Amino acid sequence: MNDIKCLLVKMTGKRPFNRCKFCERQIQECFGIQFFIIAAAIIGLLITTFFISDLPALVLDIMIVITLLIMLLSYLADKETNEIVLNNVILSQMNKELEDKVKQRTTELQGSNDELTKINRTMNDFVGIINHELKTPITAVISGIEVIKSRGIDKLDESQKNLIGVMEKSGWDMLKLTNNLLDLSKIEAGKIVIYSECLVFSKLLEEVVQSLKPEAEKRKVNLNVNIDRSITTIFGDSVRLKQVFFNIIDNAIKYSKENGNVDIKVTDSDKHIILEVKDSGIGISKENMGSIFDKFTRRVAGIKGTGLGLYITRSFVEAHKGNIEVDSEYGKGTTFKITLPKVQVV
Ligand SMILES: Nc1ncnc2c1ncn2[C@@H]1O[C@H](COP(=O)(O)OP(=O)(O)O)[C@@H](O)[C@H]1O
Ligand SMILES: [Mg+2]
Repeated sequence: MNDIKCLLVKMTGKRPFNRCKFCERQIQECFGIQFFIIAAAIIGLLITTFFISDLPALVLDIMIVITLLIMLLSYLADKETNEIVLNNVILSQMNKELEDKVKQRTTELQGSNDELTKINRTMNDFVGIINHELKTPITAVISGIEVIKSRGIDKLDESQKNLIGVMEKSGWDMLKLTNNLLDLSKIEAGKIVIYSECLVFSKLLEEVVQSLKPEAEKRKVNLNVNIDRSITTIFGDSVRLKQVFFNIIDNAIKYSKENGNVDIKVTDSDKHIILEVKDSGIGISKENMGSIFDKFTRRVAGIKGTGLGLYITRSFVEAHKGNIEVDSEYGKGTTFKITLPKVQVV
């Protein structure tokens, strides 16, 4: 109000704004107020003229009508102004409510943000514990067993050898689990980094197949590999891709029946390499198909696992800009198809 120079506005105190909505001028230049002033001047003139002159009655009548018209216009303009003032009050009330709501939401968001920061810190602590307090000792135990095996396994009797075998298997299982948990925490935090380099695809796959051969033999599952020889190289992260191949082939062996077949086929489709792993195992029922890629989802009782393999696999495939599909018939077998671009276009 203080910056309004107009006396009328100051006196009435009605207009808490500077500009007239209609004429878009400063309020002291506003049409309505000017009319009000002119009308007052004319009334004064009329009164003076009435008493001091002897103008014809018609002229006086016309002047009175004009004066009344001007007064009416002035009144209307003022009425509009009052409505604007009212609207303005309502608007500023709404504005305040909005401001309060924004403040409230901001406080809530700040709370959630603090909560997230806390969770993130806990997660980082958890990852740190897994890395240092779990993974390091497990690796030490596995290395120790390797040394015993290489130096003096023959000196041990049958039960001791079995015990060493169990310890070794448990050690590897624990290492696999800790690695899975570390990968999971990285995926959840969006911190998966893909180190892309030129890789010989067949060599990569062959390494994984070789590492899984003892498991396949143990379970009496035939591993058949068929690689299109024209396929040579792919750009990708060797560690992550090997994990992908391992998880899919490991599942195919694990969920196979005795004397079952696992067929691994690699084909080339111009810009992509397609890996298909087909097993003649237990299959996946229709109702379970939708959830097998979810974390910690396990659909088979009696066979060991964490329910993290497919979740991690899909994340790594997608990080390579590829995709993974599954087709299965319950009781007959499953096929996983992974399509990877030879070069990832970022
Ligand atoms: N080749 C397959 N045949 C049948 N079921 C499978 C196969 N691969 C995965 N599944 C199902 O998907 C679930 C999730 O697989 P995965 O994430 O690798 O976890 P895990 O193998 O540790 O249970 C498995 O528990 C199983 O029910
Ligand atoms: Mg698995």
